[in-house]
Amino acid sequence: MEQTSSNVKWHAHSVDHAQRVQMKGHQPAILWFTGLSGSGKSTIANAVDALLHKHGCHTYLLDGDNVRHGLNGDLGFSDKDRVENIRRIGEVAKLFVDAGLVVSTAFISPFVADRKMVREMCQEGQFVEVFVDTPLDVCESRDPKGLYKKARKGEIRNFTGIDSAYEAPVQPEVHLKTADQSIEASAQHVVDFLVAQGLVT
Ligand code: PPS
Repeated sequence: MEQTSSNVKWHAHSVDHAQRVQMKGHQPAILWFTGLSGSGKSTIANAVDALLHKHGCHTYLLDGDNVRHGLNGDLGFSDKDRVENIRRIGEVAKLFVDAGLVVSTAFISPFVADRKMVREMCQEGQFVEVFVDTPLDVCESRDPKGLYKKARKGEIRNFTGIDSAYEAPVQPEVHLKTADQSIEASAQHVVDFLVAQGLVT
């Protein structure tokens, strides 16, 4: 949705992005975790956030279920609502980047086009796509919230991986295979990537 209200003017502020970044002492970024429900997105994003915080980075974590309680409480799980969900999260994440933070987001974000839209909102190198690659059968066997069971019984409609699509990233910056490594190892893998890219020292 590209829409700008009429009679609205953009304000340049006295404290600019460069000054905020200089004060933080590290580069801002969006760490965009994507994967099926139960893949471990939130758990790994939380572990990365904790490691970065310990490292002295200014961080924030936006998490699917939490954001759907507030900002996106009016949205469901139709394709149209998922697109709007990701658009709003992208805009919020962009504000955190403008503030100079490393923001981690943990949303299924099932569609390639929406993740690309957020990537295109960012400066080169600022968008780090982290594919939490956990096979459907593993997610379903974990079923931490009992949602797969309900979806299989038809009690939940449009459930990702069952009767709603998940389009896996083609070239994510970080590819985590959670069936083969621990949460700690996955989180460290993301931090190592950020250090290698010079985003975090
Ligand atoms: S999306 O697709 O990015 O808009 O979804 P997201 O905002 O990340 O929300 C996913 C969480 O909502 C719960 N839930 C569902 N997920 C998928 N499909 C359906 N129909 C659905 N209904 C509820 C579920 O707890 C997801 O949380 P995670 O942490 O991914 O398991």
